[in-house]
Amino acid sequence: MPMLKGRTAIVTGSSQGIGQGIAERLAREGANVVIDYIGAPNVADATLKMVTDAGAKGITCEADVSQVAAVRNLVNEAWKAFGSADILVNNAGMEHKSAFWETPEADYDRILHVNLKGPFFLAQAFVQRLREAKKPGRIINISSVHEDMAFPGFATYCISKGGLRMMTRDLAVELGPLGITINNVAPGAVSTPINTALLENKPKLDALLKKIPVGRLGTVDDVAGLVAFLASDDAAYINGSTFVIDGGLMRNYHEQ
Ligand code: BGC
Repeated sequence: MPMLKGRTAIVTGSSQGIGQGIAERLAREGANVVIDYIGAPNVADATLKMVTDAGAKGITCEADVSQVAAVRNLVNEAWKAFGSADILVNNAGMEHKSAFWETPEADYDRILHVNLKGPFFLAQAFVQRLREAKKPGRIINISSVHEDMAFPGFATYCISKGGLRMMTRDLAVELGPLGITINNVAPGAVSTPINTALLENKPKLDALLKKIPVGRLGTVDDVAGLVAFLASDDAAYINGSTFVIDGGLMRNYHEQ
């Protein structure tokens, strides 16, 4: 039997990139998927097709995760369509490069709101529903190696991911007694639209590849497999942890 048969997952930012891979993988494991997106109404259709081709049910729902009313509505839509939800994947995220001394207030607000405020209030709305129903649940945040590692030029991104790391540690303690676990998945360099500038800059890309011990970028499937495991029954005792998935990038230091 597929390991997530009968479960429902909400995956934010799943019209593309890592979120899309996660939506497809969870569907292949039997879960219904609520596909969150922003933008044109059809941007999430490809993901919906992947989910239905995998034999699962899905709905698309537009929610800008930085808006509390929108994330509350996203949870309501999940309950309306599937009666409840079991798994929340906080995947939506963004980054914007700027020197620290030039970073505009609007960039700071947008990045912190999408990457940190969104997961906070979406998790809150999800937990409120589970608590009322006395149901267990899983929260999986897509963080980054940069929840720990510096990334010059991306201070806003690093701060948001560092916040997500601490949110996970804190909520693991507060939610564990409710039967709700929370963990982070921290990818390194994965080939997705968030990296377009890097992927199009061959010298930069080659320099990065030299730093990755396994010699390649990660794929969305690499990340999605780990998320599926964390959502499964086998991961029931895992709570408050971060799982780095970076081909060894973070550990690669050479003194020369
Ligand atoms: C960032 C990428 C970066 C990678 C490795 C990710 O979290 O989104 O832009 O290439 O970390 O540094």
